[in-house]
Formats: sequence, C-alpha cells, structure tokens
Amino acid sequence: MKRVITYGTFDLFHIGHLNILKRARELGDYLVVGVSSDEFNAVKGKKCAYPYGHRSRIVEAIRFVDKVIPEHSWEQKEADIRENAIDIFVMGDDWEGKFDNLRSLCEVVYLPRTPDISTTEIKNEIASGSKPKD
Ligand code: CTP
Repeated sequence: MKRVITYGTFDLFHIGHLNILKRARELGDYLVVGVSSDEFNAVKGKKCAYPYGHRSRIVEAIRFVDKVIPEHSWEQKEADIRENAIDIFVMGDDWEGKFDNLRSLCEVVYLPRTPDISTTEIKNEIASGSKPKD
C-alpha cells in the first residue's frame, strides 16, 4: 500500500487541480491532500475567493482523495509525512527542486502542470470579462 501526499490552495477548483490529484493518486493507493488554511494563505500573500471550509470540502469530495488535512505552515511537511506514513510527496513542477530536502523521508515527485490554467488566470479573466479557454 503506497501512500501519497500533496499540498495546495485549491481556490476556484479547476481542471489543473483535478488533473494533479488524479495523477498523484495514480502513483499510489491512498492520497492525503494538505489544503492551505486562510491564515497560511495570508502568509503566502494569497487571498482566496472561497474560505478554507469550502475549499477543503470540495477537495475531500474528489474521488481520488482519501484524506484532507489543513496546511498551516511551510514547516509541517516533515511531521505530516511521518504521521501519515507517506511514501511519495507530490507537487506540481512549478515547485521543481523546492522540496528536495524531503528526499531523506520519502520519494519526491514533481508532476508537470496542466498548461494555460491557474486560479490567478481565472480571476483575471473574470475581472476583464474575457471568455475562458476550452
Ligand atoms: N496545478 C497544476 N496545474 C495547474 C495549476 C495548478 O498542476 N494548471 C497544481 C499546482 O502545481 C499545485 C496544485 O495544483 O501542486 C495546487 O495549486 P494551487 O496553487 O492551489 O493552484 P493555482 O491554480 O496554481 O493557483 P494560483 O494561481 O493562486 O497560484
């Protein structure tokens, strides 16, 4: 039984989010997702459209996801990996190399991002009135 973990904000849930959760789950048998809390987003300089309670429940409802935990800080990853007996840590390749220090605890995999979509881009498209791409 291989256990996988990934993290993210998952605001305005979109196809890039779905793709990474599906691919992360396919690397193992059990997927834990750390969803950034509203307080942690403030630290990262992000302001969400949806509060943590909505984002975490949406992610929890995705069938590739087995468990959601709150992400409160950058430093909690080591403890999360140990407490959840994680074998593989997954992030999108926008984070390539940033978490290589975790390789002493588990396998670290960076998956390619889905092109041409992000929460920031969706917010900008809505604000400018432009049509979303297919
Ligand atoms: N992700 C992805 N492909 C995308 C967008 C996001 O694979 N097109 C992945 C990220 O690499 C990350 C996870 O989804 O591992 C959560 O990303 P998040 O930062 O919540 O989403 P973004 O759309 O990138 O949000 P923002 O624009 O606010 O940075």
